[in-house]
Amino acid sequence: MTLINRIRSLPRPVRWLFYFMAGIVVLAALYGVGRAVDVYLGSFYTGDRAPYLQMPAPDAMTLRWQTRTAERDVVRYGMRPDYLPQQVDEHAAAEEHEVRLTGLRPGTRYYYQIGTDDTRRYGDPSYWFVTPPPSGAPIAVRFAVLGDPGYPNPDQTRVRDAMLAWLAQHPRPGRPPLDLLLTTGDNAYRSGSNEQFQAGFFSPYRMILRNVPVWPIYGNHDARRRAFFNIFSLPAHAESGGIPSGTEHYYAFDYGPVHFVVLDTVASDLGRDAPMLRWLKQDLAANRQPWLIAVFHHPPYTHGSHNSDNRRDSGGRMFALRENVLPLLEQAGADLVLSGHSHMYERSTLLACHYGTSDSLTASMRRGPELERDRQFIYQKPARGAHNGTLYAVIGSSSKVDQGPLDHPAMAVSEAEMGALVFSVQGQKLHGVFIKVDGSVGDEFALLKVPGETVFSCD
Ligand SMILES: [Fe+2]
Repeated sequence: MTLINRIRSLPRPVRWLFYFMAGIVVLAALYGVGRAVDVYLGSFYTGDRAPYLQMPAPDAMTLRWQTRTAERDVVRYGMRPDYLPQQVDEHAAAEEHEVRLTGLRPGTRYYYQIGTDDTRRYGDPSYWFVTPPPSGAPIAVRFAVLGDPGYPNPDQTRVRDAMLAWLAQHPRPGRPPLDLLLTTGDNAYRSGSNEQFQAGFFSPYRMILRNVPVWPIYGNHDARRRAFFNIFSLPAHAESGGIPSGTEHYYAFDYGPVHFVVLDTVASDLGRDAPMLRWLKQDLAANRQPWLIAVFHHPPYTHGSHNSDNRRDSGGRMFALRENVLPLLEQAGADLVLSGHSHMYERSTLLACHYGTSDSLTASMRRGPELERDRQFIYQKPARGAHNGTLYAVIGSSSKVDQGPLDHPAMAVSEAEMGALVFSVQGQKLHGVFIKVDGSVGDEFALLKVPGETVFSCD
């Protein structure tokens, strides 16, 4: 008896159940195939992509760019725009290009050109970068943070231009306007495809990306396709400082006196004994830089377009962060934690030991005096110690803003405003300014380190 005859011989209810189940299997298979094709196709972008800078180190810089057709390009570079004596030739023709320049001098401006042997694709004098200072050097550092930046629209470019205008009004003699650009994830809406990265990230920020190395944090929208880790070169092997993580999902890097820790809160296990937290413990124990800043996509505290008190929001990742990651960061004396995901701006007071929902926040979890001077919030903490105060900033509104109650008690400032954050770290002071889309200052604050060591415990 053939299979078809066997099915026909079944009692009618069983036969209908069989047809129903078979239909579900066929639909699931079609969906799976469609999704696989979509993810695969979403990995590609077949156009030109202007140069961007990755994995800065005192003696090295990675240049990435893309060409419409396979080309075997040449990078020429040097310390004067009209004299580029050094050259790196690519070994093979490709559309996606990656060249790491090595043997560079720390804290030095280099100009570069990209092209073939006899043409220049990029390389007027506006193409330059500055290498970081030696690790630990007590040099002033300035970096910008764009939160959830990848939704292309006129407001995104207005935020960008407001930030650039503020930087132009606050020049640093002898230094570039910015040393680094960070994001807080969701760099390409809605689904992190390579084409969306071009439209939502590389096109609008191309004038910044040619000069300023970018550290793109991995957001949940980036994770919907596989383009993110193809597009970016990230330091699995401590190319920019810290302890090697062995993965591009999480890593550390240094810039002068600042140690940055980048975590993946989207796809990596946040369990206490998971590889990411085991690596984090090692990295924090080895760190000797006086400033410690952590960056990841999901916010530990937010009452914005996400709610960190809701265990079902974002798969409970905000709970896991508070319970498992924050104790490690605060134990190591973290100064600042940056995140996005909630499309607004929220910035906390100086906190420690607040690992529960917002109703568990007590006065003893607030650290340091909070002064307000000339509309600037000023906080103080001992230069060394554990659980002596961390500022938490949620910046997810650099390309759009959503609604939310904005009443988390940990926050000193909560605003449904579009904007970007710019930080400066110099000596014993970290200074932050939230530049709103209209160019006005929405929040300004400073964290001062005073001499001494205080080790608090959360018990
Ligand atoms: Fe997100």
